[in-house]
Amino acid sequence: MSDIKRIAWCITGSGHYLKESIEIMLTLNNVDLFLSKAGEEVLKWYDYDLDEFKSKGIKIFKDVTKSSAPVSLLYENIYKLVIVSPTTSNTVAQMAYGFSDNLVTNMFAQAGKCKIHSIVFACDTEPTVITQAPKKSVTLYPRLIELENYDKLKSFKDVDVVDSVNSFKEALDKWI
Ligand SMILES: Cc1cc2nc3c(=O)[nH]c(=O)nc-3n(C[C@H](O)[C@H](O)[C@H](O)COP(=O)(O)O)c2cc1C
Repeated sequence: MSDIKRIAWCITGSGHYLKESIEIMLTLNNVDLFLSKAGEEVLKWYDYDLDEFKSKGIKIFKDVTKSSAPVSLLYENIYKLVIVSPTTSNTVAQMAYGFSDNLVTNMFAQAGKCKIHSIVFACDTEPTVITQAPKKSVTLYPRLIELENYDKLKSFKDVDVVDSVNSFKEALDKWI
C-alpha cells in the first residue's frame, strides 16, 4: 500500500443508501467530503448537519466553482482512493459516458486520469428498488437506461462498481 493516506468521499443527491454510506464514512478517520449540489441539498432533506461532519474532522468541499477547482487536490498525492457513495442514476449516467461538468463527475474523471482507484456505490442496479424517501419507503422501477448505464460503468478500469452494503465494504476493505 502506498503512503498516500486520504480518501476523497463524494456524496451525490441520492436518498437511497445515504444513511448506510454515512454510517460507513463515519467509521473512517481519513476522509475529505466532496458534495454535488444535489448531494448538499439531499443531506438536508435527511436531516444531516454538515457542521457535525466538520466537528469530526471531515473537510468539506462544495460544488461552487465552474472548473471544479478542488479536483486539483488529486494531483498532489494526497488521496489513495475516490469513493462515490451514494451515487444517483444521474451521476452514474454522466460518469459512464465520460462527462465531467460538476465536482463529483470531475473527481471521478480526474481520478481515472491520475490512475487513482474509485469505488462507486450505485443505486439503480435492479429492476425493483425499495428506497427511503425523507418520510417513507418507496418502491421504484429503474428503467432499462439506468440499468444499462450501471452495466457500462462496471467495465471501467480501476473502478469497483458495487450494488450492496456488503460488496461496498468488501471493496473498501482492500484500501483501509
Ligand atoms: C429527497 C430526494 C431523494 C432523492 N433520491 C434519489 C435517489 O435515491 N436516486 C437518484 O438517482 N436520485 C435521487 N434524487 C434525485 C437527484 O437528487 C437528482 O437527480 C439530482 O439532479 C442528482 O444530481 P447529482 O447526480 O449531481 O447529485 C433524489 C432527490 C430528492 C429531492
